Order: sequence, then C-alpha cells, then structure tokens
Amino acid sequence: MPDIRRVGVLGAGLMGSGIAEVCAKAGYEVVVREVDEKALAAGRRRIEQSLSKAIERGKLTASDGEAIRKRLRFSTSLEEFSSVGFVIEAIVENLEAKREVFKALDALCAPHAIFCSNTSSLTIAEMAAATARPDRFAGLHFFNPVPVMKLVEVVRAIGTSDETVARVTAFARSLGKEPIAARDNSGFVVNRLLVPFLLDAIRAYEQGVGSLEDVDTGMKLGCAHPMGPFELLDYVGLDTVYAIAEIMFTEYREARFAPPPLLKRMVVAGRYGRKSGRGFFEYDERGNRK
Ligand code: 3HC
Repeated sequence: MPDIRRVGVLGAGLMGSGIAEVCAKAGYEVVVREVDEKALAAGRRRIEQSLSKAIERGKLTASDGEAIRKRLRFSTSLEEFSSVGFVIEAIVENLEAKREVFKALDALCAPHAIFCSNTSSLTIAEMAAATARPDRFAGLHFFNPVPVMKLVEVVRAIGTSDETVARVTAFARSLGKEPIAARDNSGFVVNRLLVPFLLDAIRAYEQGVGSLEDVDTGMKLGCAHPMGPFELLDYVGLDTVYAIAEIMFTEYREARFAPPPLLKRMVVAGRYGRKSGRGFFEYDERGNRK
C-alpha cells in the first residue's frame, strides 16, 4: 500500500482551508488549490487566523505552528497535484464543477492516488464516474469548524473498493478524527438528521413559535446543543444549507428536506450568515455577533 505523504486540497473556502490545516497539522505536505489569487489569499488568511487562535488557546506551540505553515503550499494551478497520494475536494456544491476537476486530476495524478470529496449532499458515485478510478474514490465529509470537530464521515460509494475504504478510514484517523461509515445517500448520516432539524427551526420561526433568540436559547439550555439552530445556520452559511436542502429534496422528494420560503429569500438577498455579515443575526468584520 503506497504511503501518503502529500495531500492535495481543492478549494480554500471555509471547509477546504480547515481540511488543509488539519492535514498539515498531522504532518502531511499539503498543496491547496483555489481558482484565483483572491480566493487563495482568503483561504490562507483563514488558516493563519485559525493557527493563531490554536496557539493562543495553548493547543499548539509557536514552533509547531511554524512547521505547519511550512508544510502548506498554495497554488492556483492543478499541476502540483501530480505528486499527491490523496486528494480532498472541497469546492462549491456543484456536481458539474466537481466532475470537471476530478476528470482533469484523473489524467494528472498517479494511479494509486485516492480521490475523496467533502461534499455534504451530492452523490459520490456521480463524481467517481467522471474518472477511471471509481474503486479509489470515496466521500470524506468533515464538519465545521474542521480543526475542532472530531467527526468525519467515510462514504463508500457503489464502486469504492474495500481497500480504499480502509485507507480513507486510516487516513481520517491519522488526522486525529473519529470516522464513521456512511452509505452514499444524500446527506449521509449527520446532514440527513441535521438539515431537517435546521429547516424545521426556520418553519417554526415563520409560524411564530418563538423568537430567534428564544428558539436558540431553548435548544442550548434545554438540549445542551452548543449552538441554537439559528446561530448554527448563520455559522454554516444559509447559502450552503439552501444548496444542501435543494439537493436532498431532489434526491428524496420528502417535504422535510424542502427549503422553506424564508431561507430562499434570505439567500437571494445575500444574507448568508456570518460570512456575509448578516443572516438571522448581524456580524462585524471579524465574524463576531453584533
Ligand atoms: N484550532 C484548534 N482548536 C481550537 C480552535 C482552532 N482554530 N478554535 C477553537 N479551538 C478549541 C478551543 O481551544 C476549545 O477547546 P477546549 O474545549 O479544549 O477549551 C474548543 O475548540 C472550543 O472553542 P471556543 O472556546 O473558541 O468556542 P466555543 O466553546 O464557543 O465553541 C464551537 C465553538 C466549537 C463552534 C461550538 O459552538 C460548536 O460546537 N458549535 C456547533 C458546531 C456544529 O454543529 N458544527 C457542525 C455543522 S454541520 C456541518 O459542518 C456539516 C456541513 O456539511 C453543513
């Protein structure tokens, strides 16, 4: 079984930057790719902030932080992926965009390289079908904030080999994460349960069940959730939740996955949550609630 030393991360958004950070923290050489310099710089800044926070909190020494920075490379080209043994894709939740980039990588990467998608709701088999390596293709789904959340879902698609599942599971453990096995059904395990809950919170609010603050306080103090549903919606991003809900609704045709009208209206108005400064609540430039 070839050793994985270099990891390629596609996308430096909220998830991609977190994934790149945990891979570098675990000792892998990491190349992070974004489509343009602006997005790349934003990803780099996000990793920098997270590393500084980890050092501040005593989770990391300054010298370890420096070593991690040295293991990270940033690029707008795919060429550097030719020497990676493991690819994790975390670009936009758009099947065509994902298929296109995996197809290009398939021609570029070594045959033994494993391809994973961090998609939260798209079908892994549809991405794998764009490559000649569906046996070496799986889902590896992280949770936000990636450096803090312990869970990853290892998703076996219809063509994924047993060896690949074992290697992806071992890789997840090498990052210090706790893997659970999931089938290639939209939403896997966690989002299948979480998304209807978040959508239901919006419906409850639309129906006047309680104020945003009272619903959040209810779930925090009544059920010990670390964040209330509206805080969490803003944190994950309303655009992301909307996209996931649309995909899950298309897959299952069940009303519980349908995005409520208010969610759609907030997304079209650019109220994405913390990342755009306004969602259910308002945020300053540092992402702190006003
Ligand atoms: N690196 C390393 N450790 C960090 C860190 C960083 N950048 N930032 C924070 N930490 C550590 C802190 O040191 C602290 O550790 P401790 O408990 O040992 O002291 C711990 O993480 C908590 O951090 P904070 O004290 O800063 O923050 P809070 O206690 O307020 O917790 C939170 C923040 C972890 C985000 C918490 O509110 C939470 O768990 N919220 C829910 C998040 C959630 O549900 N995520 C899943 C979303 S769904 C998803 O991602 C799937 C997708 O497909 C939609």
